[in-house]
Amino acid sequence: MTTPAEDPALSPQPSPLKVAVLASGRGSNLQALLDARREGRLAIELVLVASDKADAPALRRAEEAGIPTLALAPKAYPDRASFDAELFSRVAAHAPDLIVLAGYMRVIDAAALEAWSGRIINIHPSLLPKYRGLHTHRRALAAGDTLHGASMHFVTAELDGGPLIAQAEIHVHPGDTEDSLAERLLHREHRLLVACVELIAARRLLLGAAGVCLDGVPLPAPLRLEGERLVGASAG
Ligand code: GRF
Repeated sequence: MTTPAEDPALSPQPSPLKVAVLASGRGSNLQALLDARREGRLAIELVLVASDKADAPALRRAEEAGIPTLALAPKAYPDRASFDAELFSRVAAHAPDLIVLAGYMRVIDAAALEAWSGRIINIHPSLLPKYRGLHTHRRALAAGDTLHGASMHFVTAELDGGPLIAQAEIHVHPGDTEDSLAERLLHREHRLLVACVELIAARRLLLGAAGVCLDGVPLPAPLRLEGERLVGASAG
């Protein structure tokens, strides 16, 4: 016989994490979140999908899923700081616990990021600290790398330079092209993103004073995606 305290059905569940997604393009990473949520694999509430491109397919995916959307045109603002101030204040109005940059292709003004420290993450298609910025697949091929991958990290004012959460690796095959690498990696990105958001939604992973912590313990190294699971120091 279980006591009420032991019965998982009666133990308090954390409320679903409220997530806003920023995306500039296709939105396949957003779709991975939408699918995981629809299939009951991810306890999040998507409160907003915002874009700097009114025609981003990511916005259409959100509309189809009944998620509120927002498109703001950078050209309508005098500079980066005023665009980002407006964007992030509109995002804040939806009160997300977490902002996910999923193919969001703009550098974000440092002042706009201040209020979101530890509450904004990005997925980047390289094994950071290698290849910050653009053309990561091209640069990995040009360097003759045999391993390539994707990284999830907390966002800071330093482009693709914030604390690493987790990475997914793929092997570079002879004859690989930018497109073949990008396509093979994208499947792993989707799983990596969902797995990281899962840990944050479960309130198991956060950015603390000692760095990225899992279950209260600072990670000595980024978690690694193995198969469908994140593994590492104490990823149980
Ligand atoms: C992904 O490769 C992501 O890592 C990068 O941009 C791409 C976005 O793809 N930052 P999608 O828009 O999510 O399909």
